[in-house]
Amino acid sequence: MEKDIFQRKDDHIKISINENINSRNTTWLEYVRFVHNSLPGINLKDIDISMKFLGKQINAPIIIGSLTGGTKLGLEINTKLAEAAEKFQIPLMVGSQRIQLEYPDTSKAFTSIRKSAPNIPIIANLGISQLIQMENFNSIEKIIHSIEADAIAIHLNPLQEIIQPEGETDFSNAMEKISQLNDYLKIPLIIKETGAGLSKNVSNKLINMGIKYLDVSGLGGTSFAAVEYSRAKKQNNHLKSIIGNTFLDWGIPTAASIIETRTVAKDSTVIIGSGGIRNGLEIAKSIAIGANISAIAQPFLKRAFNNLKEVESFIETLISELKSAMFLTGCKKIKDLKNSDYAILPPLSTWLER
Ligand SMILES: Cc1cc2nc3c(=O)[nH]c(=O)nc-3n(C[C@H](O)[C@H](O)[C@H](O)COP(=O)(O)O)c2cc1C
Repeated sequence: MEKDIFQRKDDHIKISINENINSRNTTWLEYVRFVHNSLPGINLKDIDISMKFLGKQINAPIIIGSLTGGTKLGLEINTKLAEAAEKFQIPLMVGSQRIQLEYPDTSKAFTSIRKSAPNIPIIANLGISQLIQMENFNSIEKIIHSIEADAIAIHLNPLQEIIQPEGETDFSNAMEKISQLNDYLKIPLIIKETGAGLSKNVSNKLINMGIKYLDVSGLGGTSFAAVEYSRAKKQNNHLKSIIGNTFLDWGIPTAASIIETRTVAKDSTVIIGSGGIRNGLEIAKSIAIGANISAIAQPFLKRAFNNLKEVESFIETLISELKSAMFLTGCKKIKDLKNSDYAILPPLSTWLER
């Protein structure tokens, strides 16, 4: 058992670094086209991308997405991500802390993340399957405390669970447990997908239940079907590998998921636009169509595996690209992107009309 969870975590990292685990489907953000502004009327130097998030001032609307934690390799990666996040003052979402529930010794690996990043928002993380099995929330308190988390994300991963050879597929009590946890917590609860997107219907249910933070994590980037397909194949699990291949492109493209979630959002809803976001222009587009902030996961993994410099240079590039997009659309502040001029083309427009 011990070997299983540690092995699985490192398998995910290695497969994501060494193999192509991208969905064949795109985010559809290419069907959102900003209208170029030849007279932006602002100075590039005056563009301000800072904002408040989870009660803290951050320097850019970029979250380092949930990836890993708990193993030796996970700690090495998270340490570099935490150092970069602290340097640029951007938020960090840790990978699932399930390992901490089963092996409390691994808490040290999570605590050291907060030591490397004392001032930024850090978001704890746990899967819906673990939440469903809980009789009380004492262990949630522990994982929050171990990283002095500013919020906790519960990830929804039904696609992964059906393909994962050891997947847990009883989601019957999921809504009830989310609601109970939301009532119980003193810090914000984020409900997050893992690459298949939140639909309008699911977002609406969560918002009506009082959830304020939604991370859409849509289709177009990392495909967990592809990750689990690769693991199933290596384990000679024929059935699971076939299912993984069949569902490789399952999900709601990120652009559609952000727009759908925004249509049912309240003023107080915070939408994290994620899933396949790969550059600063896509961050600008995701905010223009309804997100408050973006998250990027997989691109940080290989860079952190290599070295800290690569992580830092990637963040610098994202920031420059985001500011360039804002300059070319005449947006001085992040909130100005909401009123920017853009067109939505088919098939995204067709999907939205349905
Ligand atoms: C190796 C790897 C491990 C991941 N582990 C977690 C996790 O533990 N918890 C979680 O909520 N999401 C996890 N994710 C999902 C990402 O946070 C994100 O939602 C998804 O990869 C889509 O974003 P991307 O295309 O930018 O990678 C993981 C992704 C990868 C690539």
